[in-house]
Formats: sequence, structure tokens, C-alpha cells
Amino acid sequence: MAETAKTIRDFDFTGKTALVRCDFNVPLDPEGNITDDRRIEGALPTIRYLTEHGAKVILMSHLGRPKGEAKPEFSLAPVARDLEEKLGQPIVFAPSQTVIDDAVKAQVSALKPGGILLLENTRFRKEEDDKDLSIQRPFAEELASLAGVFVNDAFGTAHRHHASTAGVADYIPAVMGFLIEKELKYLGDALDDPKRPFVAILGGAKVADKIQVIDALLRKADTLLIGGGMAYTFLKAEGYEIGKSLLDAEGLDLARGLIEKAKEKGVSLLLPADVKAAAAFDNDAPAEIVKATAIPADAQGLDIGPETMKLFAAEIAKAGTVLWNGPMGVFEMPNFAAGTIAVAEAMASSKAVTIIGGGDSAAAVEQFGLADKMSHVSTGGGASLEFIEGQVLPGVACLDKN
Ligand code: 3PG
Repeated sequence: MAETAKTIRDFDFTGKTALVRCDFNVPLDPEGNITDDRRIEGALPTIRYLTEHGAKVILMSHLGRPKGEAKPEFSLAPVARDLEEKLGQPIVFAPSQTVIDDAVKAQVSALKPGGILLLENTRFRKEEDDKDLSIQRPFAEELASLAGVFVNDAFGTAHRHHASTAGVADYIPAVMGFLIEKELKYLGDALDDPKRPFVAILGGAKVADKIQVIDALLRKADTLLIGGGMAYTFLKAEGYEIGKSLLDAEGLDLARGLIEKAKEKGVSLLLPADVKAAAAFDNDAPAEIVKATAIPADAQGLDIGPETMKLFAAEIAKAGTVLWNGPMGVFEMPNFAAGTIAVAEAMASSKAVTIIGGGDSAAAVEQFGLADKMSHVSTGGGASLEFIEGQVLPGVACLDKN
């Protein structure tokens, strides 16, 4: 039988101190209010399980990229307040600029079974993400010394080898939480044993950023729908004029290669048939629907058009599994959001297993109020892409095996 990583069900937490890595890297408005709490919601089942099973819980996370400096705008204090509300119990916040110090150790010692403490942003310490492991390791050891077991539940950061995401596993037993388990199940099943037809939808700006993902999906999917900024590079690669639309010039040859590969593999690769094009990158710029093969020289495509929406929706309606990553247009501008909304709605009303691969598309379905209609909305942007590419995720590879 293949080795599987241990989960929190494989460990007796009674009286133990659990060091839990979450991904509380949530967006904050200028007043410090959390504007999207999906990652915090996603962490709750693991935290509740641990407190109910008698563990003393130490939570840790990064927030933003403070680059080793204790900057107040990157403090996890707003997360502590939000957790307190959501869990309905006090959270001991340890506001140390060095993450761990004697006062924090005293707070940890005072924890009772079922109690929860949140450490300050692990990236306040420059060792956290130092590429040099001889610098990273002592901080990992320092973190691990607080607890008897490491629970990794930070899927969004599982593609990083940092002290708090993987390094601590060198010092104490390491198991995964429910969120990582769920993410790996949905993404893993979609890739290993999808209900067919398996339709993958990809958007985003640069072909080069998604090349390995597309390459991996060409080996797994039946149909690949390409929209968003990178569709124009594919249209150009097919020999069409794209006016002032986004062109990833370095991605042109890659796009040609992928079109060829799709043909070889018998994967149906569909590009937009029509687009909504405007004279400027501006929500209020005059816009028109044009054939994707005839974008005027002075216009730029900013969304897929109605014919493409129908075409993509029809493919989604036939699918057994749909995996989506990357918006279809500039959905932050209401006049160019229709294509992204149409794909989200088609997925929401489909009977297929529907998976949103994190990042912008996850933010989009949340914004449209459709997140609850999907089988799974990943909390990892970069992590889900690396997983789809088939890369080893250090935050998973470090876990103890059954
Ligand atoms: C994310 O937001 O994708 C994760 O929290 C990882 O953040 P990072 O890209 O700053 O490592």
C-alpha cells in the first residue's frame, strides 16, 4: 500500500501541546479589517478538533511579506480577534516582535488543555523564509521546542519550505490537519481519477506562469478552455491579429507548443470565439463585442464575449469534473466581469465536481456569492498550481507517514 501522510486522527492529543501552522494570510483593509476570512473559516475544524481532544493549541502563521521586520501593519492581532469571535472562546495573543521570547514561553506554559494561543507573524523573523536552511533550522527548532506535535493545516503555504511550514517537522512528530487533507483530496482526485469529461478552465495573464499547469493538464483533462489575458497570446500563436490586447511575447512559442501538444494528445483546447474589446484599459472606455479573430488594431480584449460564454458554459454543463484557475477577463472592472461571472454561474449550476483552484478565481466566486455552490474552493493560489503541476509540496512531504 502506498505511504500516506498522517493526519490529526492518527495522534492522541490528550494533554499535548500542538503547534498548528495555519495560513492566516488574509487581506486587510487600511483600518485592519479582514476583507476575506475564508482561510480563517477553513482552519476552524482542525482547531475545534484539537481543543475538543484535550490539546493545548499554539497557532502560527505568516501575514503578508514583512521581510523579517516586525511591522505593525502585518500583525496577526486582527486574526486573533476574528478567531475569538468565530470560536467563542478567548485567544491568548502573543504579540512578540521576535515571535518567541520569555514572555511568550510563559504564556505557553500557562495554557490549559483546550486553551488557544496565537503567535505573532512568523515572518517577523528573517530566519523563517531564509533559503539557507542552516539559518532557517534554528528558528524551526525554537518553534518546535514550544510543543510536542506539529499540525500542518496551511495548504496555502504548503509550497514553501519555511521554518514554520516544514522545518519544525524535523524536531517533533508532524501530522496534517483537516484543511490540507480536504485540499489534497479534491485536487488529488480531480487529477488522479476525475469523473469524465474533465474540463479545465484557465485564465490569467502570462502563459509562462501557467505553462507547467497547462502541460500537466494536457495529460489529464479532456477539454481545456483558455480565457483571460493569456488567451490573446494563444490567439496570436494561431496567427490572428490581437490589436492592443495583452501579448506575452515570450510565451508565444510556448503557446504554439501547447496547441500542438493538445492536438497530439487529443485534448480539445478551446480559445475565445469572441471578446469584449475596448480602446483603453478603463472600465468606462467604449467597448464592443468583436470576433476573436478580428480584434481591431486600436482595441484590446478585456473579457470573453457572449458567444464564448455560451461555448464554455456548454462544455461545463457536459463535464463530470471542472477545475478552474484564473479569471476570464478584468473582473475587477464591472464592465468586463461578465465572462468570469458566466463561468462561475455555469459551474455553480453544474452537477459536476467543481473545484476552484484558489487565487483570483476563488476571490471572484466569493465576490459573486457563489462559493457555497462549488464542491471545493481551494485556499491556496500558488500551492494549488504547484500541486497540479505535480510538484512536491514541502509542507506535505515533511509529514510523518503511516
Ligand atoms: C498565499 O497567499 O498564496 C500564501 O499565503 C503564500 O504567501 P506567499 O506567496 O507570500 O508565500
